[in-house]
Amino acid sequence: STTYRVCTLPGDGIGPEIIAEGKKVLAALGEKYDVEFVCEDHLIGGAAIDATEAAGGPVSALPPETLEAAKASEAVLLAAVGGPKWTDTRMGAVRPEQGLLAIRKELGLYLNLRPVRMFDALIDASTLKREVLTGVDLIIVRELTGGLYFGGHERTMGVEGAGVGGTRGEYARDILEYSEYEVDRVVRWAFDAARRRRGVVHSVDKANVLDTSRMWREVAHNIAAEYPDVRLEDMYVDNAAMQLIANPAQFDVLVTENTFGDILSDEASMLTGSLGMLASASLGDGTALYEPSHGSAPDIAGQGIANPIAQILSVELMLRYSFGMDDAADELAAAVTRVLDEGWRTGDIADESTPAEKVLGTAAMGDKIVEALG
Ligand code: NAD
Ligand code: IPM
Ligand code: MN
Repeated sequence: STTYRVCTLPGDGIGPEIIAEGKKVLAALGEKYDVEFVCEDHLIGGAAIDATEAAGGPVSALPPETLEAAKASEAVLLAAVGGPKWTDTRMGAVRPEQGLLAIRKELGLYLNLRPVRMFDALIDASTLKREVLTGVDLIIVRELTGGLYFGGHERTMGVEGAGVGGTRGEYARDILEYSEYEVDRVVRWAFDAARRRRGVVHSVDKANVLDTSRMWREVAHNIAAEYPDVRLEDMYVDNAAMQLIANPAQFDVLVTENTFGDILSDEASMLTGSLGMLASASLGDGTALYEPSHGSAPDIAGQGIANPIAQILSVELMLRYSFGMDDAADELAAAVTRVLDEGWRTGDIADESTPAEKVLGTAAMGDKIVEALG
């Protein structure tokens, strides 16, 4: 049988709780499809900061062993990083989120795919009206290794008379930069995806203000000329934030830069009913990484109540994009659908009409999904 090495990164907060469910599902499907998924846990985020600090070595949110293990594996499954323990805002403090940004950069994961998948059973879990949600089926393609996140950050002690406006105190800046090449590869991916879907690309930018966006728009239009079968719509990001709530069914493929994509995807998750439903795939030219779109949810960590479905649907994306196991992926998606159709919920997707005995904890939801795999 085939063996795949999966580097698993539990991270912080609800991370260890939800990744256990992702592994359960992988193990069940491995058995069924005669594939051995060898999962090996490694440190990232706050957990890595604490461990490296305790070891007395250099403090790091992405220890070199973790990066090596990730590179040596066929895929990476990440849960989440961050938490109140590590929110030191002082200059030079190591933060958990740096570990995540570093692994994305090091693995060359320039594209983050966030499918906004609607489950009929959850339509009433959304804060939006049923009519607004009818026909929603969109994917967000977020640029992942450029823009403000990687343009260079600077914070210095102010010198009187220095910095913007000659102000006293500290001075900080984050640079928003893109090369044409970085834009081209994600927008092109979006057009290829649209071609296999409903043939519409919304390119979201702020071209009325930003030079990076004006370049983004030009690149998008040049690519559009090569795809006569795909319709390109330009949309300003502020309008897009509104349109996602007003008329989300108009979107097919929404492609945008890093920061805009981060914000719009959390917003779009509420179409599905919960941020706990939004999976993602971080793709590049080598080993890919699969991660829920949400964070470590410190407010519910350790209680065993987090929704593991975003993590489990990230496993589904792994099966498709890293292993070409489309049948297994379809089967997993069907199992999740069945469990939701049967009325099983975690707290975040339950409502007043959900009977108490249908509300499951994290592990019980994982078990239900495995059970539904048959
Ligand atoms: P968050 O996504 O962790 O949580 C936002 C809200 O959604 C919270 O109320 C939380 O309880 C809820 N939520 C999130 N996932 C859920 C799930 N699976 N089931 C049920 N409810 C869920 O965002 P935050 O609170 O702004 O950030 C917390 C920490 O997570 C921060 O340190 C942040 O930097 C980090 N973060 C990490 C990632 C990542 O690792 N990919 C992503 C986003 C935020
Ligand atoms: C996400 C997260 C990360 C991001 C943070 C934790 C660095 O919010 O994956 O959406 O902004 O990319
Ligand atoms: Mn985010």
